[in-house]
Amino acid sequence: MDYFHEEMQRGLAGGQGALKMIPTFIGRPTGAEKGGFLALDLGGTNLRILDVTLAGKGKAHVTATDRFVIPPSLMGGSGEDLFSFIADCVKHFLRRFKNGGPLRDSLAFTFSFPVEHLSISSGKLISWTKGFTAGGVVGRDVAALLNEALKSKGAGFITVEALTNDTVGTLAAGSYADSTCDMGVILGTGTNACYAERANRIGKLPGLPPPDAEMIVNMEWGNFDRIPRNGYDHALDRASSNPGRQCLEKMASGLYMGEIARRILVEMMRQGLIFRGADPSLFTAEYSLSAEQMAVVVQGGDFPRESGVRELSEVDRRSVCSVFCIVSRRAARLAATAIAAVVLWMDKNLDHFHTIAVDGSLFLKYPGFQAEMLFSLADLLGDRAKWIKFAPTQDGSGTGAAIVAAVASFARAMD
Ligand code: BGC
Repeated sequence: MDYFHEEMQRGLAGGQGALKMIPTFIGRPTGAEKGGFLALDLGGTNLRILDVTLAGKGKAHVTATDRFVIPPSLMGGSGEDLFSFIADCVKHFLRRFKNGGPLRDSLAFTFSFPVEHLSISSGKLISWTKGFTAGGVVGRDVAALLNEALKSKGAGFITVEALTNDTVGTLAAGSYADSTCDMGVILGTGTNACYAERANRIGKLPGLPPPDAEMIVNMEWGNFDRIPRNGYDHALDRASSNPGRQCLEKMASGLYMGEIARRILVEMMRQGLIFRGADPSLFTAEYSLSAEQMAVVVQGGDFPRESGVRELSEVDRRSVCSVFCIVSRRAARLAATAIAAVVLWMDKNLDHFHTIAVDGSLFLKYPGFQAEMLFSLADLLGDRAKWIKFAPTQDGSGTGAAIVAAVASFARAMD
């Protein structure tokens, strides 16, 4: 937690550190915002499009939604093809729900990668994460790329009103309905968090907003690297598409949890400790074990047939489950420690109640993950842990983007 605070301080002051601490130029919503928006959520392997109506009084309604799988070839292809695919999905959505006619002209774009904001509706991609490598996008304004792609597909009547990170969307969704919510966390394919910071603590933005105002800061905590790592972590990192980066993410998120466990299983097989007599090529393909499969096995289920593992013997099941448990427990405890560090940064003596909006499949679905995080908070903070509450905010990032767009259009109207 001390190291975390040092890196937060450094990032807010504009120094080169592990935490980028990106100002988003937006504060939390009041709950009174109203309006209708199209929201587009590019997270990891899926793209979601939603039609959202904000009714005020903390109530948001999703009136239409569709989900598209991003083909792996597009994650690693050209940026142009990726954005052209996204624009096609938007057109498909409009055709499906409104016979091709204009549904909304304001688009809220949740882009779940590190972006340096130029304004509330524009920002440059700093680097790809979560296995994406699409060419020609790093350093470019992703909102402009989407606007261009929409235009070239004849959907130029839609423009990006707000560009937001999924953590910011999650915090916006959480705080729209509950004013004690001051932090948004994603524990899914990747991991990250944002929180409401006092503007006068953001040293790298001198004199911009009134000093007593608050601004949401996207921490990009997945890149935190002052944690001891073991041989499996180093090997995974070396073989990844972004070596040396996203250290915490590689220890505490869904995309990598399966890969760490797979590497341990392969080593145990090599030492003859499990799966004796099985095909030695078992689990040798990288990323062939997912967190979803781990969840099935720890709940008493089997590995999928394609993995090549036949029925698990009782002894093997116990060993495999212990490995999965160690890997997931470490992830949960790291995530809880990071949350505790941020809450103590906001409120040194824990004098106030803090609701943390959390989204992501690891948090929502992995057996025992939430419970382990709660144990960990109690270990770290003792009795004071009761001042922290998790609010599972499923699909908050999409709805939240619409809320951010509403806050932005309100701020523009006031200018
Ligand atoms: C990205 C973050 C994002 C997180 C969760 C990370 O890889 O860098 O921007 O919030 O994943 O989706």
